[in-house]
Amino acid sequence: MRKIIMAGNWKMHKTVGESVALAAQLNAALGDAMEREMLVCPPFTALYAVAKALQGSTVQVGAQNLFPADEGAFTGEISPKMLLDVGCSYAILGHSERREYLQESDQFINQKLKTALEHGLKPILCVGETLEQRGEGRQKAVVSMQVHQGLQDIPAEAMEQVAVAYEPIWAIGTGQTATPSQADEMHSAIRNNLSGLYGDEVAQDVCIMYGGSVKPGNVDELMAQPEVDGALVGGASLDAESFVRIVRFQS
Ligand code: 13P
Repeated sequence: MRKIIMAGNWKMHKTVGESVALAAQLNAALGDAMEREMLVCPPFTALYAVAKALQGSTVQVGAQNLFPADEGAFTGEISPKMLLDVGCSYAILGHSERREYLQESDQFINQKLKTALEHGLKPILCVGETLEQRGEGRQKAVVSMQVHQGLQDIPAEAMEQVAVAYEPIWAIGTGQTATPSQADEMHSAIRNNLSGLYGDEVAQDVCIMYGGSVKPGNVDELMAQPEVDGALVGGASLDAESFVRIVRFQS
């Protein structure tokens, strides 16, 4: 069965106090069991406090990144073991902001996915093209490469734990969302890539989320697309009311 995953990526926003306050608001509004996975991804500094505030809640906690090793001399980095220890169950990997500002390669992202899976953390692999690449008609080729390299040597059995997030870079933080049909078309292309790698049965069950200016006003239309199985929300996840509305989309 394909999961629906609604996730908030808080990026580099919110102090511990602000994070706990938002988590408490979300817990109060979303605490009832819904047939959707819901999670928030606060900054590292707030993970422990947010996970504690959400203990026993249906709202789960994810990290925005990890380093692919258990422990060691990696100054400034955080391991999957540490993330599990503070209550994370998911990790966003390969976000375009990290690819761009921290020069993360597909190979490095692939290592992160493997380490996450070894530890039982569920990876959300982010892929997406720039405006320039779309202008050249290369969006499907770019995303296909990111999917293939990001999932290199990851076996079919592990794919139950993996979600893919299609986040066109030109739609992130710009207010310019992909149209529902543009999103659906790219999600179909990603599902074809997954079919090629793992066969139709496995590919059909992978949750493919959309990210890029998802708002209360456009979420229903996006989620109504047959190939859109979830949302990875940036800016609009920083406010309880708007994130709750997004999570409670009506299809
Ligand atoms: P926005 O929703 O702010 O466009 O961010 C999307 C995103 O990058 C989520 O990971």
